[in-house]
Amino acid sequence: MTIENGIQDLGGSLPVRNVQDLAAKISDEIPQRYIRPEIQVDPVSYDERLEIPVVDLSRLFDQRFSQLEMAKLHQACQEWGFFQLINHGVADEVTEKMKADTYEFFKLPLEEKMAYSQPPNSIEGYGQAFVISEEQKLDWGDMLFLAPRPIPSRKMKFWPIHPPTFRDTLDKYSSELQRVVIRLLGLMAQNLGINPEKLTDRFLDGMQGVRMNYYPPCPQADKVLGLSPHSDATGLTMLVQVNEVQGLQIRKDGKWVPVKPIPSAFIVNIGDVLEILSNGIYRSIEHRAVINTEKERLSIAAFHSPAMSTAIGPLPDLTKDSEAYYKTVRREDYVKFILSNKLDGKSTLDAMKLIK
Ligand code: OGA
Ligand code: NI
Repeated sequence: MTIENGIQDLGGSLPVRNVQDLAAKISDEIPQRYIRPEIQVDPVSYDERLEIPVVDLSRLFDQRFSQLEMAKLHQACQEWGFFQLINHGVADEVTEKMKADTYEFFKLPLEEKMAYSQPPNSIEGYGQAFVISEEQKLDWGDMLFLAPRPIPSRKMKFWPIHPPTFRDTLDKYSSELQRVVIRLLGLMAQNLGINPEKLTDRFLDGMQGVRMNYYPPCPQADKVLGLSPHSDATGLTMLVQVNEVQGLQIRKDGKWVPVKPIPSAFIVNIGDVLEILSNGIYRSIEHRAVINTEKERLSIAAFHSPAMSTAIGPLPDLTKDSEAYYKTVRREDYVKFILSNKLDGKSTLDAMKLIK
């Protein structure tokens, strides 16, 4: 493996049954491997006031409001690890086209989608992620995972040619998101009291992975999970929900808090890598996706991480006056470690902690 290769060959997932197809063929009882007794353990919060903060990107750059908005951003990153970003400057057409093309892809016949199946030892392509044993419980969903950045590492064989606009749409979406991510990271660095370039430089030639999730409806929706509880192993995630069906929940004070997406906002969250870089000042929060009984749900999550050549550890400027709370490891070893584990809450992050 070479560093320029990006994420391929670092590990994959065991092949499992296509869930969209399974869901289309069953009417009531679902296979045991999808039944999750643990769902009932932690309650869902019905407190309407408990909502993730909203951050306005245009205000962050407007002198009249920036001080207040910067404080809001900092607090969101420290206390919630999640926020909705409005006035972000990404044209609605770009996002809407991405949603439409994603929807079209999942509507294709199974055989056509299977042409983009993940090969063993790679998570790029159509299939599932983080299945590492034959006994493990399974998530009620399929995904298409593509890595648009770094651009020279694109594996075009996994990029659908149907719908015909898909490749162009993803290309545009990818660069728009990269731009917003760099702007946000620069502001976060300012809030952390460091030179913005110290953080943004690591992401300029960074990796971007786009995970398109398809969650079919399920007759026993309250017994399955679309996506197991996890924190994102990457740096910064920008997520949009494709249709009106909600399902994202984040863990807050022992409860699962549903996220109600604002139309045309991005749901932004801090991943493990940013928690580590910030030496724990910012928090990567556990979240999960639940399933609807009647309707399918789709979402698009774009993950942004530092370049493969960099090490993962607390930023040196943040450990001058404080001890380092996380190990520093080679990026490659970090990715391998993630891909060899199932999604299990914050377990990868715990493994990186120096003080437990
Ligand atoms: C993810 C994720 C949530 C969702 O893909 O990492 O957390 O709402 N998705 O689909
Ligand atoms: Ni996630």
